[in-house]
Amino acid sequence: MKPTIKNIQPYVAEAPVQAIQQAYHLDHIARLSANENVYGASPKVYEALQQLNQDVLNYYPDGNANDLRQALSQLTGIADEKFLFGNGADELISLISRVFLTSDSNIVIQAPTFGAYRTEANIEGAEVRAIPVFEQNGHTDFSGMLDAIDEKTSLVWLVNPNNPTGVFEPVTDIENFLNQLPSDVVLVVDEAYYDFVNNQKATALPLLATHDNLIVVRTLSKAYGLANLRIGWLATNATIHRDINAIRAPYNLSSYQIAGGVAAIEDQDYLQKVVAGIQDERTKWLAVLDSLNVPYYVSDTNFLWFKVADAKRLGEQLLSQGVQVNSRLNPQWIRIAIGLPEDNLLAQKITSKYIHTAAQ
Ligand SMILES: Cc1ncc(COP(=O)(O)O)c(C=O)c1O
Repeated sequence: MKPTIKNIQPYVAEAPVQAIQQAYHLDHIARLSANENVYGASPKVYEALQQLNQDVLNYYPDGNANDLRQALSQLTGIADEKFLFGNGADELISLISRVFLTSDSNIVIQAPTFGAYRTEANIEGAEVRAIPVFEQNGHTDFSGMLDAIDEKTSLVWLVNPNNPTGVFEPVTDIENFLNQLPSDVVLVVDEAYYDFVNNQKATALPLLATHDNLIVVRTLSKAYGLANLRIGWLATNATIHRDINAIRAPYNLSSYQIAGGVAAIEDQDYLQKVVAGIQDERTKWLAVLDSLNVPYYVSDTNFLWFKVADAKRLGEQLLSQGVQVNSRLNPQWIRIAIGLPEDNLLAQKITSKYIHTAAQ
């Protein structure tokens, strides 16, 4: 077996809501720990799933996910043959790593960022070069990332907006960066939170017209509210497309994923409402953090990343009162998804009390 596997720790999944309810004797838990969308998916998705003919169950699904391919092509204006689908963006991150990484290669990532790129590199025995974001504002150190690249670099992962910071980089900066990359280094822009930026120009997709060493990854788990349906997609040009498709399992999206995904993509009005609701709530959260003098990075996503004296302690106080957040990423920084208005109020109240007590 691969010797690297013995050193890999299994992913610690979110504690189920029922388990927390029992442990803390609570009726309601606001799950704000995994950047999920608490507003839920479009009602049209539920309709599409219910309408799916049960006769499909004993036949393999469309291995090409053609309906989803067409829906995405219409939405983005990108030619349909450029898409590939995954069981969540997670699967695509695995496939990309499988194709490009060897034990002799390295990857360059932002720090902090989403953990999957490092895990996948560890599986392949590739070195991870993590370049800290600027402490002051959380922006990506593009020149630091360029400096970290050498002849053994296979992949550069750029999450935009980044998780857990929420910080968005203008696409002109990404283009500038891409123009300076050696052509044999592949840039993957993970746009899991793109829809929350609420600006159609906030994507690297148009750069596919001029760059063959680019992959853009998205997911329907976040703004579309479909984390449980597991639908991720990527767009890239012919050579990379061929190589990833060659190692993809043939039927990796079920008919339910395809039908649900199409319904979600076709309901852009619903998406807009969700994004607007989250923006409103985010603004209220930031006003509270400002009034408390709590340092935070400006987020263009459905979550916030802010600094306190003891993240674990605040995380525990929130959890014991029914708000589940992520306080295990950094000793001083806490990540909290934007919840429903009443849950946000509760989280803000607990945070205010914690800050005032810590200041005494
Ligand atoms: C930046 C980023 N990429 C990818 C993913 C994985 O998304 P999916 O649910 O589609 O596997 C996440 C999930 O949190 C994420 O934050």
